[in-house]
Amino acid sequence: MGFTRPLFAALGIFASAAVATTESSNAAAIHDLGLLKWTVTNEYGNITVPGKYPSQAHLDLHAAGVIGKNSGLNDFDLRWIAAQNWTYTSKPIGGLRKSNTATWLVFDGLDTFATVKFCDHIVGTPDNQFRQWFYDVSSVFASCKGDPVLSINFGSVPRIINAINASSEVQHWPASVVYPFEYPNRQWVRKEQNDFGWDWGPAFSPVGPWLPGRIVQLSKGGEVYSLNTDIDIFRKGQFNNFAPDQSAPWVVNASLDFVGTLPKHASMSVVITDAKDSRSVLYSGSLQGVTQSEMTITGSVTIDASKPKLWWPRDMGNQQLYNITVSVSSAGSKTPLLVSQRRVGFRTILFSSGNVTEAQVASGITPGNNWHFEINGHEFYAKGANLIPPDAFWPRVTSARMDRLFDSVESQNFNMLRVWSSGAYLPDWIYDIADERGLLLWSEFQFSDTLYPDSPEFKENVIGEVTYNVRRLNHHASLACWMGGNEFENLMLPIAQGADPATYPNVLGQYEDLFIVTIFNILAANSHSISYSPCSANNGWLDIDLSLPVPIVERYYNTTSGYIYGDTDFYNYDTSVSFDTSAYPVGRFANEFGFISMPSIQTWQQAVEPQDLHFNSTTVILRNHHYPAGGLTRNVRNSTLGQVEMTLAVERYYPTPDKTDSVANFSAWCHATQLFQADMYKSEIQFYRRGSGMPERQLGSLYWQLNDIWQAPTWAGLEYDGRWKVLPYVARRTYDHVIASAFWNYTANQLEIWVTSDLWESASGQVSLSWVDLKGKAIANNAGMPKSIKFEVGAINTTQIISTNVASDLKIPDTSNAVLIIELTANGKLPNSAGHKTTTFTHHNHFLPVWPNQAKVSDPKLKLSYNKSKKTFTVESTAGVSLYTWLTHPAGVLGFFDDNAFVLAPGQKKEVGFTLQEDTTGGKWTEKVTVESLWDLTTK
Ligand SMILES: *[C@@H]1O[C@H](CO)[C@@H](O)[C@H](O)[C@H]1NC(C)=O
Ligand SMILES: *[C@@H]1O[C@H](CO)[C@@H](O)[C@H](O)[C@H]1NC(C)=O
Ligand SMILES: *[C@@H]1O[C@H](CO)[C@@H](O)[C@H](O)[C@H]1NC(C)=O
Ligand SMILES: *[C@@H]1O[C@H](CO)[C@@H](O)[C@H](O)[C@H]1NC(C)=O
Ligand SMILES: *[C@@H]1O[C@H](CO)[C@@H](O)[C@H](O)[C@H]1NC(C)=O
Ligand SMILES: *[C@@H]1O[C@H](CO)[C@@H](O)[C@H](O)[C@H]1NC(C)=O
Repeated sequence: MGFTRPLFAALGIFASAAVATTESSNAAAIHDLGLLKWTVTNEYGNITVPGKYPSQAHLDLHAAGVIGKNSGLNDFDLRWIAAQNWTYTSKPIGGLRKSNTATWLVFDGLDTFATVKFCDHIVGTPDNQFRQWFYDVSSVFASCKGDPVLSINFGSVPRIINAINASSEVQHWPASVVYPFEYPNRQWVRKEQNDFGWDWGPAFSPVGPWLPGRIVQLSKGGEVYSLNTDIDIFRKGQFNNFAPDQSAPWVVNASLDFVGTLPKHASMSVVITDAKDSRSVLYSGSLQGVTQSEMTITGSVTIDASKPKLWWPRDMGNQQLYNITVSVSSAGSKTPLLVSQRRVGFRTILFSSGNVTEAQVASGITPGNNWHFEINGHEFYAKGANLIPPDAFWPRVTSARMDRLFDSVESQNFNMLRVWSSGAYLPDWIYDIADERGLLLWSEFQFSDTLYPDSPEFKENVIGEVTYNVRRLNHHASLACWMGGNEFENLMLPIAQGADPATYPNVLGQYEDLFIVTIFNILAANSHSISYSPCSANNGWLDIDLSLPVPIVERYYNTTSGYIYGDTDFYNYDTSVSFDTSAYPVGRFANEFGFISMPSIQTWQQAVEPQDLHFNSTTVILRNHHYPAGGLTRNVRNSTLGQVEMTLAVERYYPTPDKTDSVANFSAWCHATQLFQADMYKSEIQFYRRGSGMPERQLGSLYWQLNDIWQAPTWAGLEYDGRWKVLPYVARRTYDHVIASAFWNYTANQLEIWVTSDLWESASGQVSLSWVDLKGKAIANNAGMPKSIKFEVGAINTTQIISTNVASDLKIPDTSNAVLIIELTANGKLPNSAGHKTTTFTHHNHFLPVWPNQAKVSDPKLKLSYNKSKKTFTVESTAGVSLYTWLTHPAGVLGFFDDNAFVLAPGQKKEVGFTLQEDTTGGKWTEKVTVESLWDLTTK
């Protein structure tokens, strides 16, 4: 309509729910849309249910009892919801000021194709889930008779994208580069891409007002309302992808986006205080060089280099945070017109992917490109996993759930998560959690595994999305980098080239235009502090210069043999080489690697009927999306391939369960797939970590994937409700600072033991090595191996302490009846800026000279007890060596044990605590904890 003003300016998001983010205006009246009464109606008008705000139609239909829980085969059965439009309609909105006001609708997120009507007038047709949308509805409201109604009609996304795809005016790629997981054509919509299916998740294509929204009324006397704030803190002279001068002063740049009218020549000031002590003021004063446009005001100040205390990731120093309050006033007035507060940290974080220098080569590093992170000028070893959306429906992701998730992240000794695309950009409050806990978030623009159009309209939409999210998130200390998207350069571009070499130059040109020219220029205009790479997996860059037509010259496949370039994104489902380190990739960083496993019986019971609790029941198979269906049919064949891979992996290496009770058998099989998964990840993580001291100077490993979006066989370490599989326990140990690990070349039967450390100074200590038989009896003369070895290991480095041939150098009477117990103790310093104190590090590990299914295990006759006052469990093996000792907590309680999947010698008592996150059993759960070991897989 002519008299409304939809503003498509490339401006920010409003972060209303954020813990550490507040906006205020002098007198604006703000009406939270969440406080209104809503109904949700389908396209045919024969379903109407009460609605929540924020919400999605599936959730409101579920709350009203129209659909059941997200279980069984709902992935297929609920497609009728995505096949139609859904309209959210408010009750008439009373209490709005009518005279002398400007009235705005501000939506933090609408998912996705919507028609917004206010008082029966169309005020906007937003089409991007990831942007904030705001509309001036003053004139509509002025002429509205009675209280206005707000209605938001959400289109059926599959229908709309199919229609776009069917148009002859749009570009079409070869089918191999736009492969559907379930719903096709997701490349046409800026909506969470895994909503259309992924190889670990369902395809619900939900719609609704997924983030908060509000009506803002401003008096025409000059009120303004802040939409978004970009705070950029960097070292003077810093330019995104280059190492800054750590002695340069800090620049704090504040830029506020607003609606309303600011007087000309407004002034800006800031107060920066310790976030924990408002009396401790770092800086208070006015900002310089203030510039003002119709919707943005920006100014900056320089602060002495050493005045702020630095923010560090966990275990590298303190998570020092400051509160910054930015005020905008008219000249000469003390009363601010606009105030914006953020919590920030002073740190530099570099993603380094330029050429390896001559000095690096001289230090022993293979030439090629770098591919690692540096915090405050220090290289470090990045440890972590890939985060996927924690739920198919974001409105039910609560802060309690995310706090629990971050407990499980910290407890795995991680310092980084990759916020994988495509998913959704995380809300501010999740970055707040990461800021506090010292977890770096490698962040990506939400594009993945397809090619995207580079048409003017699509690009304009992307510009809005990127500008808004870059500005919204830039102040977070935990923001580690921006990457353009997932698997373009290592996967999609080569596929496109193979599918049609003739059009490839054009496809590559479009890729560079969207992911380098467009996005990097936006990032550089809004942030000096954050590095950029157009893709999550690549070979680094050859040149970066904003004055070039394509400002980042990617290396792509322009490589020299024998050199090492980028990161590795590695999956191998041939389980015959899962433990063969010569089959692993050698790179600078491992950003993805893994294998699927089944969730536990407790998790399956949340989602499938008792009669379906079989490894290969149709329901279980169809919830396995590895391999993806490739369309909307129930593709039992593809899903079965994944079941077969897990089965073969277990059969190759572990005792295969064959229990008479079918549920017990199912449970044991699920557990066995987890043992394989954990052992395989351990093998890879140990290999990648050892690479920190090898010529590849490998500086990070993030496993695929941290968490689950539903109950299904996936690569996740954490099951849907947060229950730990075996993997997190093993990952936690393998990510200890100083570890001793066994590398077994099983073809040559050569065993090496290496000590690897990620501390920033050298550490020393000893590794005790005890060969025992599986009854726990010491093997004579320790099989010819020293009982203990002293070591010294360099900073972020590795050292070999033993290389021996199991067959010819060691004297083991029966290798199927032997285990090497490895216990490490080291003294070293945590890389804490303030820390001069020595810490003692311990690590336990073991090595079996045969695969677990050849080991002559016997019943260790485990005893379990619970100490009420200490709140700890004690496990004791009374007969043989207990391998993979495994404590299980019952359903009804959330949390994790201090240790699990450990080796226990006979007579050894191990006390294990439990981090209790939620208990719905009134404390009774402790009586239902069970313990088992590898032996139990073999029993009937
Ligand atoms: C810093 O800001 C946060 C979030 O707004 C607030 O909770 C906290 O109390 C502030 N700190 C101080 C010392 O005022
Ligand atoms: C609503 O109407 C549609 C179209 O006529 C029909 O297919 C559907 O079964 C109806 N649903 C209900 C719940 O009545
Ligand atoms: C469905 O929703 C879209 C987006 O709001 C709209 O353009 C379209 O007209 C709607 N169709 C129907 C039948 O309601
Ligand atoms: C990086 O190395 C390549 C050779 O592989 C060279 O052409 C390029 O100019 C170098 N880039 C920089 C910034 O030195
Ligand atoms: C490979 O890199 C060199 C610089 O090292 C550059 O001159 C050349 O154009 C690049 N070739 C391709 C195919 O990118
Ligand atoms: C599951 O089914 C596949 C395909 O028939 C079969 O190869 C595999 O052995 C089965 N797995 C289990 C654990 O029964």
